Amino acid sequence: MARFASSTRDIPATSVVPRHVAIIMDGNGRWARKRLLPRFAGHRRGVETVRATVRACLERGIEYLTLFAFSSENWRRPEEEVSLLMQLFVRALREEVTKLDRNGVRLRVIGDLSRFEPDLRALIDVSEQRTATNTRLVLTVAANYGGRWDILQAVNRLLTSEPERRGELTESDLAPHLAMHYAPEPDLFIRTGGEQRISNFLLWQLAYSEIYFTDVLWPEFDSKAFDAALQSYQQRERRFGRTSEQVTATSPVASPPTGTRLDA
Ligand code: IPE
Ligand code: IPE
Ligand code: MG
Repeated sequence: MARFASSTRDIPATSVVPRHVAIIMDGNGRWARKRLLPRFAGHRRGVETVRATVRACLERGIEYLTLFAFSSENWRRPEEEVSLLMQLFVRALREEVTKLDRNGVRLRVIGDLSRFEPDLRALIDVSEQRTATNTRLVLTVAANYGGRWDILQAVNRLLTSEPERRGELTESDLAPHLAMHYAPEPDLFIRTGGEQRISNFLLWQLAYSEIYFTDVLWPEFDSKAFDAALQSYQQRERRFGRTSEQVTATSPVASPPTGTRLDA
């Protein structure tokens, strides 16, 4: 299993282009309401933004894109909206997986999938398997995901596999059991739609991510808006607890990976 630098135990290497971008795609409902359309029209339009964002990540050499599609608290929404969201998820999986595969994208779904219909679970399984050998971009969709659920399931799995180590566990024992054990921690976290909260997304993994909030609603989050977030990221000094002087003294000037376009 790959081991990635932990932002609290190591000083992770950083680069101009974030390796991992995690996004809370918020504002679909408000986008629709502004146009006097049903909320669902906003979700449908949101799928198009997902498509465009995947393309933008491929063009910019971003290696991991993680999207919050449905939170463990979104079951509290009206039954009709939940059911329409599930249908949209199924349709998007059916329609997009061939194109993702052709573009070298590996799809992974994280979250408590036990609450989904068997058909949807089977479709997720097939889509993940079909793209399993792709390496250009790892696209993770968080569905029925909650950061607290993630930490608890990791603790339970760890204690089941190594019960004798109770009381002496470290951060690196737990990390391999978290839902995103296969990716480095997000460098950049974006939330669209104007709210400034984490809403139970990747609680553990966001420890040292750079946070970017924008008022742009998800259906309107185009490549220009995405580049504004990437530019803001490039201006951050990632100190990981150190002083600014230490950072300047130790870090070489990071260059973007080859083949990466950096126009804003
Ligand atoms: C985000 O958009 C999509 C999901 C949570 C599934 P919202 O549906 O939350 O849109 P707003 O926040 O009501 O505008
Ligand atoms: C967060 O958005 C979850 C997703 C985007 C899937 P919400 O719209 O559900 O978040 P809150 O309820 O406003 O915090
Ligand atoms: Mg919302």
